[in-house]
Amino acid sequence: MGKRKKPWGGRFAGPTERKVEEYTASLPFDWRLYPYDIQGSIAYARALVKAGVLTEVEGGRITRGLEEIRKELDEGELDLDPAHEDIHMYIEHRLIEKVGELGGKLHTGRSRNEQVALDLRLYLRGEIGRIVHEIRDLQEALLEQAERHLDAVMPGYTHLQRAQPVLWSHHLMAYVEMLARDAVRFQDCLTRITVMPLGSGALAGTAYPIDRDALAQDLGFPEVSRNSIDAVSDRDFALEFLAGASIIMMHLSRLSEEIILWATAEFGFVDLPEAYATGSSLMPQKKNPDVAELARGKAGRVFGGLVALLTAMKGLPLSYNRDLQEDKEAVFDAVDTLRGTLQVLAPMVQGLRVDAERMRQATEEGFLNATDAADYLVSKGLPFRQAHEVIGTLVRYCLEQKKRLDQLSLKELLQYSPLFDEGFYSYIALDASLKRRGNVGGTAPERVREAILMARDELKKGKG
Ligand code: ARG
Repeated sequence: MGKRKKPWGGRFAGPTERKVEEYTASLPFDWRLYPYDIQGSIAYARALVKAGVLTEVEGGRITRGLEEIRKELDEGELDLDPAHEDIHMYIEHRLIEKVGELGGKLHTGRSRNEQVALDLRLYLRGEIGRIVHEIRDLQEALLEQAERHLDAVMPGYTHLQRAQPVLWSHHLMAYVEMLARDAVRFQDCLTRITVMPLGSGALAGTAYPIDRDALAQDLGFPEVSRNSIDAVSDRDFALEFLAGASIIMMHLSRLSEEIILWATAEFGFVDLPEAYATGSSLMPQKKNPDVAELARGKAGRVFGGLVALLTAMKGLPLSYNRDLQEDKEAVFDAVDTLRGTLQVLAPMVQGLRVDAERMRQATEEGFLNATDAADYLVSKGLPFRQAHEVIGTLVRYCLEQKKRLDQLSLKELLQYSPLFDEGFYSYIALDASLKRRGNVGGTAPERVREAILMARDELKKGKG
């Protein structure tokens, strides 16, 4: 049985069952909100002074007490006894130990329901800043690779079947685009995160003349929540964050999957940097892409967090319910997983050694220029559907003859269409194929160069 008297223990004659304390405590994980809880409490103490609830002197003592607690916690002094329940109660308990009964005034007109909402908002604001920075680092690594091998050609795939030639740099730039959307998604989500809930009380609003706008300003939030019931029961911002984290993890997982494929002997397009590969305990020759595999595997737990919180919330009546405590582990785990993944992927991508020769060789087999061959006939006036049919038949002939399209003689070609002439060979050449895709968004070297410059520019602006 928990021995300590609870701060809410007045109406209880007996103690709480120990198992219940353990079951209900969030302190084992919400301790990491302490810097934000203290920041919020210091701002709230200031608001209480302004409201005439605390004197200046009392406000000063409380603030100093809270700062001392922050220092203690920074140094790792924390009593994780679940009897404390959560970080809010723990800090209040330490404050009362430090400044005496005065510490008991800090919670005047305030509820943990709004307090925890504020803490999570402050926490996410900080983490998003760091995440966006780390996204930029990965974009930078991709850009560097793209620039290093600007003209390397590889087979582009659909259905994981060789489709058309593309620049390796163009392929990497696809990820730069995806990550740009991810960064913007997180930044956009900040609009809903930076809404200040204090002053909502437990659910009905506060009976004290708290200057909510001043509080918001103090905490650097541009807005205050407009409905107290919504303010204590809303976790949309956490869901949005988890959705954004899920989408970027999906992107990182796709990138990882490609790196895993590219590093196989079958592809042989890249060689992993040694510091980002692992060996086998049994097979001496192995160099395994475990980092990329884990990045792929860890996406699942982030999606899990999103689904867990959505599910936890879907049946909740307004306003606060303890189910909402389940938000934190999902969010913390998503933050750790995402940041950890970004931090290893960026240097791994940067260190990839590219075998451009091998990539180019791969473009030779698989009729990657078949579309170009059809376009050639179109340029001679044949409707595309018919051109498609002619080249399809030619491909079948090539498969039988074990030849490539460019190895067919003009005589052979003319058996399939009278429109062929010598110009066919240069038309379907690799470089010509790339060059023709010069419209915005295409793989023509000139366009890709521009795209890289633009991305560099945006990156610089985003960081500045
Ligand atoms: N630890 C709680 C949570 O994370 C804090 C809010 C508790 N509020 C309450 N009325 N029991 O949600």
